[in-house]
Order: sequence, then structure tokens, then C-alpha cells
Amino acid sequence: MGGWSNEREVSLMSGAGVADALESLGHRVTRIDMGRDVAVKLAEAKPDVVFNALHGTPGEDGTVQGMLDLMGIPYTHSGLVTSVIAIDKQLTKQALVPHGIPMPAGHVVATENLYAADPLPRPYVLKPVNEGSSVGVAIVTQGGNYGNPIGRDTRGPWQEFDELLAEPYVRGRELTVAVLGDTPLGVTELRPKSGFYDYEAKYTDGLTEHVCPADIPQDIAAECMRLAVEAHRLLGCRGTSRSDFRWDDERGLAGLFLLEVNTQPGMTPLSLVPEQAKHAGMSYADLVQRIVDEALA
Ligand code: DAL
Ligand code: MG
Repeated sequence: MGGWSNEREVSLMSGAGVADALESLGHRVTRIDMGRDVAVKLAEAKPDVVFNALHGTPGEDGTVQGMLDLMGIPYTHSGLVTSVIAIDKQLTKQALVPHGIPMPAGHVVATENLYAADPLPRPYVLKPVNEGSSVGVAIVTQGGNYGNPIGRDTRGPWQEFDELLAEPYVRGRELTVAVLGDTPLGVTELRPKSGFYDYEAKYTDGLTEHVCPADIPQDIAAECMRLAVEAHRLLGCRGTSRSDFRWDDERGLAGLFLLEVNTQPGMTPLSLVPEQAKHAGMSYADLVQRIVDEALA
């Protein structure tokens, strides 16, 4: 847990929840807040299995997975190759779109080029290719919440990132599906009370209504779950993953787009995988045990 990504605080929350659950199940747990000495700490702890509660780089991008592979320590969630692809939203498109998974047609732009021109017709979304929890995401709208030229505005994600993924903005609704093993747990709709489902809306209790199961037509729910399972399978995910969607509800099935696949989905008290598991009749501790079982299978 922990580490040094922009999602450090989220990971500490995930890790605390998971460690408590593992202890409640009778397992012996060593909590490691990941620093540069993580390999030394692991060599000392000699774990039977690592529960990876990291989010972002380097815990979700294949780096930690490769280290654990070299050390011969089993670990939860996806392996190295899957992690490398899934952390990168553009690589994920390249892997999934040829297989018929609908995703917004994005392209990566050098941040400095944003100073000269819009990369797409507005409204569009700018996001770092490999961050989580909506860190650095901006929706650029007509009339400009970021002004024109956009680079002059100091609030944007271009402050921190050399390149950004630009995608057409999909109006409508925010949906998510957890996959456990190879089974979808359900569809949740996220309704932020203002703005979009950004970092604050994700982790501040009361700022987003979670509708689980989502109040959407049956064919849309079925297609969301089919796409989530298919993406999980095509990328070779292990244990659990969570696929996030936008659905333009004026366009029916044609308005459904996968945004990304999260291979290290949050396990905090407000997180979506535990919530869907609960609706599917599985406690938080049952879910944690299932993820560990998948790692040791
Ligand atoms: N990146 C956060 C932790 C999530 O996907 O839940
Ligand atoms: Mg994500």
C-alpha cells in the first residue's frame, strides 16, 4: 500500500481496509507502506502472497508486478503485461478497439501543443495517459472553462504532464462494472451532485450518489457487463478489474463507450468494487479472500 503515486492517500485507505479484513479472516498480515526499500522488506517478511493495494505508478503499471515475479512471490490482481497495457489509456484502446470494444477515439498530444490550438472540437476531455482517480482530468467545453488559448489557463492538467490524451467528451451518464474471476458483479451509475466524477467527488462522502444496480435499460446493462468481461478477458486481467463507461442515453446502444479498465480498483469505504460485491451478496472480507484465492489458484 501507499507508495509515491498521486493516489498514495487512496492506496493507504485501500490497504488499511484490506489488511483489517485479512486479519479478521485470521491471516497474519505485514503492512508495508511501499518505499524504495520494498524488496528488502518483502525479503524479510517472506509472505505466502502479496495483496497489492497500490494504485497508479509503480504499483499498477507492471513495475511492482515484475519485481514480485522475479522474487517468486505470488500476488493479487493482474500480472506484468496486463498492467503495462491497462495503466496506459491509449495502449488500452490499441489493444481493445480492434476487437470491437467501443472506446472514444482519442489521441495523445504534447501538452505544449495545447498552447497553440484545441486538439479536437469542443467539448473534449484531456487526461494523463496513466493516472487514476481522475487526477489531472479536465473537460474542455464550448465557451471555455479553460479559456482560449487553453494553455494560458493555470488550472489545467498541462501544468504537470508532458503529454495528455485528448478524447471527445461523451455526454450522458457514468457507469461502472466490476469483474471478479470472470463474472460481472453488476452495473453502478455514478451521479455526482455537481460537476463530474472527479477526485473530490470520488472520495468525499455524500458528493456522489451511487445507484446500484443502475436504473438503465436492460440491454444497456447487459452490454456494459458483456464489454467489461470481454475487456477483462482480452487484456488478461486476473482477480478483479473494474471497467468504467460513459453512456450517451440519447443514442441507445450506439452511445455506450468503455473509457478504461482499472486493474487495481479502489478498496476504500467509498469504492465501487466492494459496493457491487455487497449487492451481489459478498461481504468486504469475502471479496478480499476471493481476490487472494485467485492469486494462489
Ligand atoms: N484508480 C482508483 C483507485 C480506482 O480505479 O478505483
Ligand atoms: Mg482509472
